[in-house]
This record gives sequence, structure tokens and C-alpha cells, in this order.
Amino acid sequence: MQNLVEAGQTRQQTVNKTPHADTYAEFLERYPHYRSTLHLDALRAAEYGRLDAHGHVYLDYTGAGLHAASQVRQHGDLLNTQALGNPHSASPASSRTTALVEGARRAVLEWFDAAGDYTAVFTANATGALKHVGESYPFSATGQLLLTADNHNSVNGIREFAREAGAAIAYAPLTVPELRLDAQALDEALDSATPGAANLFAFPAQSNFTGVTHPLDLIARAQERGWDVLLDAAAYVSTNRLSLRQTHPDFVSVSFYKMFGYPTGVGCLLVRNAALHKLHRPWFAGGTVNFATVGGRRHILSPGEAGFEDGTLNYFSIAAVEIGLRHLASAGIDAIHSRVECLTSWLLERLVALRHSNGRPMVRIYGPLTTTMRGGIVTMNFYDPDGHLLDYRRVEELAGQQAISLRTGCFCNPGPGEAAEGITDEDVAVALVRNPDLTLPLFLQMIAHEGGKSAGAIRVSFGIASNFADAHRFVEFAGSLRDQTRLTIGETSFDIESCRVIRDGS
Ligand SMILES: Cc1ncc(COP(=O)(O)O)c(C=O)c1O
Repeated sequence: MQNLVEAGQTRQQTVNKTPHADTYAEFLERYPHYRSTLHLDALRAAEYGRLDAHGHVYLDYTGAGLHAASQVRQHGDLLNTQALGNPHSASPASSRTTALVEGARRAVLEWFDAAGDYTAVFTANATGALKHVGESYPFSATGQLLLTADNHNSVNGIREFAREAGAAIAYAPLTVPELRLDAQALDEALDSATPGAANLFAFPAQSNFTGVTHPLDLIARAQERGWDVLLDAAAYVSTNRLSLRQTHPDFVSVSFYKMFGYPTGVGCLLVRNAALHKLHRPWFAGGTVNFATVGGRRHILSPGEAGFEDGTLNYFSIAAVEIGLRHLASAGIDAIHSRVECLTSWLLERLVALRHSNGRPMVRIYGPLTTTMRGGIVTMNFYDPDGHLLDYRRVEELAGQQAISLRTGCFCNPGPGEAAEGITDEDVAVALVRNPDLTLPLFLQMIAHEGGKSAGAIRVSFGIASNFADAHRFVEFAGSLRDQTRLTIGETSFDIESCRVIRDGS
């Protein structure tokens, strides 16, 4: 790639051009290995120019990765230069599509070092992959589901399949304040697998709330004790290499738009071949059967991935997956990891150091304060000089006015916020009695109003196109909240009688 070949030249330009040259020079001195990632600045200029063209600071790579301009160009060329038809037939248009889909499947298996040992099932997203496991895993009254309190709701939701089958459901708790897994409690839970029954343990490789990376050696430890393991890798694989030759979870979920932005609408369930027979699909559909009759009411499911891919695959988008993986490979996943680690570490240091004029801290970080076993996500809340919580929705609004895109709420992962703030089952029960139509934003308002607790927060996350200027702009923005009070930044009030939020008095 020309932009990468010229990285040396551009490197010098990048250092000179930065508007915060002194701070950047200090940063480079403190994080010398950031220099090995400077080709990503050239990549940003060549492929993600839309960010700087609009002065946009994008800080939500965990919500969605960004695509390179060339990914879309290459995909457009592919679609515009050949006729592609519905796959799995013998026509030239169909055969070409099948070849593209199978090429993408091979590329995915190779990316994850999984060829020969795993089956790749294309799904709509990570949630689709997780739902496959939930509905096809043989939960029973003697079996168990063990979840970690740090899990996306698309994993938490599997408990409803387990509940329906009468399986025991348990959560492994988190430690406070680091919000890591409580090793002793987890060990005890893992020791309790029911011998001979179907026991499923599900955890995320990286928390999408705190950025904590949970130890992958848990996979083998759990399997040795009688658990099948579901690893939710959705928030991990955009900035980390995952080799399924080094670690062998039974099931893995990913979404490709999180890895490289484009296409949306395609994810993958990787199933260890040795565990494939454990999944029993509860139905069949077009595309999943080798044989089906009306008269005899019989069907024979197709083996392998075909038995899981319902109906017509999203074949246009699947054809873009290989392009995305090539792009990620040319950028270098290890370089992305290093860059994100440096930026995260610097950001953590700067945020922790922020003080109001009276000396009180401005920011509370959720999770560890260093990058040890932690990825490129920093989740926080801001407080005023008297220690009152600033409404994160107002903070998001103010950031938006400065063209900073970040994320707020509980990120579909309620456990870490609940653990950090000590939100109890009783808090939830009381809120549900008060408002049977409870929504998450209302619940967050209620507990903030009454108990000064916040299960919601502000999340900043880095990825492939992040640079020092992004992190610096966010630190400057955070600094602008110094000495602001709830009133000066504009308050959202809450009517406790009706349990309804009233925005800015309206
Ligand atoms: C850890 C984790 N798991 C699962 C998901 C669900 O991904 P999707 O919405 O693409 O299905 C997400 C999305 O943010 C996530 O971060």
C-alpha cells in the first residue's frame, strides 16, 4: 500500500503537524513503542480522511469500528464487475457467490487460527451467534449455566433458554473497584459442575463496559472441570489477536463491523468441531436441511455450518468480510493493539489527575487504572466540586457540540455498573413496583436521584484509526468540566412521583 510504504515520510510530518507538539513529544518519550505504530497515522490520512475533514473525534470503536474508504471501494468494484446470484445452485451467478462466501469462511477460520478445528457459521451479528448457542445448547434440569456478572445482555439473555429447560443459573461476581472476576468465587462456581450433565460457562474475552480482559486460561480450567465454554469475543477481536490454536473455547461469538466497520449485518459463531454435536437446532428452515417432507413430517438437518445458516445468507455483505480482514491484516492487529494500549494508558493517567479548583477529583473511572489485563475502553463518570454526579447525558451532549462521539448508558452490560455502585436486588424490585413499565434510562434516573448511585456512565474507546490528537481532544474536553456544577452544565430533573424524567425543566 502506497500510504504504508511512505510511512517514514509521513511519520515526520505527523510529528510536526500536531497542534500539541510538546505534549505529543512528552507522550512519545513516555510511550516509545507508540512509534512502531506511526504507520497508522498514514493509514488514517489515506483511509479515514472523513474524520479530520470534519474535525470529528470518534471514540466509540467498541460500539462500532470504522471502515476504510478502500474497503467500500473494493466491495463496490466486486459487486459492479460481476453478476452474483443466490448461492448453492449450479448456475455461474450462483457458483460465483458460493465461491465468495466459502472464501470468506476460509478467511475467517484462518484469521482466528481455527482452520481444521472449528466450524464458522455466518450469522447476522454476535447476538445471532449467541442466540444459536442459547437455543441449541442441551440445557436440562440437571445442567447448569454459569455466567459472569460482566456480560453483554446478548449473553445474559441465554439464561432464559436455560431457565425454560430448568437448568440452574449462577453468576460469578466481580471485585470492586477493579471490576475483575472474583477468582475465589469463580473457582468455587467452576468446581460445582454437575457430573455428566450439560454445563455451560459464558464470559467475555474483553468487557465492553470496563475494558477488562478476562484471563483466557479460564477456558481450559473450566473445561477440565466439566464445563463447555462460550467465549464472547465481540469487544476483544478488533484490537487483540485471538488464536484458537492457543485456546480452545467451544463456542465463540463475533460481529465483523466491530472489527473493521464494514459490512454491518454479518457476524460469526465459531464452533469447535469436537463440540458441534452438542448443539441441537430446535427447528429447520430453507437452507438448513438435506431432506424435508410434508407427508412424512420428517427432516434431516444439513451437517456443519449449513444446518445453522437459516434461509439465504447475506451474501453481498459476506463477500466484504474477506476485504475487511485483509485491511486489518495490512494495518496489523498487533500495531493496533499497541497503539490503543498507549493511548488508553495516557488517557487514564490524565483523567485520574484531573482536579477541581478545590482539589477534589473530577472523574471516577470504572475498572482498573492501568492497562494491565485491560483493553482500549475507558468508562467514567464526572462529578462536580461538591462530589455530585454530573448527568452523563448532558456530558454526551456537550461532547457532541465539540464533535466528539462517545457512548453513554450501561452499554447493554448492566452487571459492572451494578457491582460498582452497590445496586441491590431490592433497588431493582422497588423500581419495578414504582413503574411497571420501567426502562433502563428511568431506572438509572431513579437510583441516581434517590441513592446518588449511577449504573450508567460515559465510555470512550479506541481503535484502528485512533490517534494522539483524539485522546488529547477528549482530555481537553474533560478539563472543560472543571468547577462546573450540575446547574451550570444544565440539569435533567426527575419527578419522583411519576418516576418520569423531565429534561431541562420541560
Ligand atoms: C461484548 C459484546 N458482546 C456482544 C455484543 C453484541 O454485538 P451485536 O450487537 O453486534 O450483536 C456486543 C456489542 O456491543 C459486545 O460488546
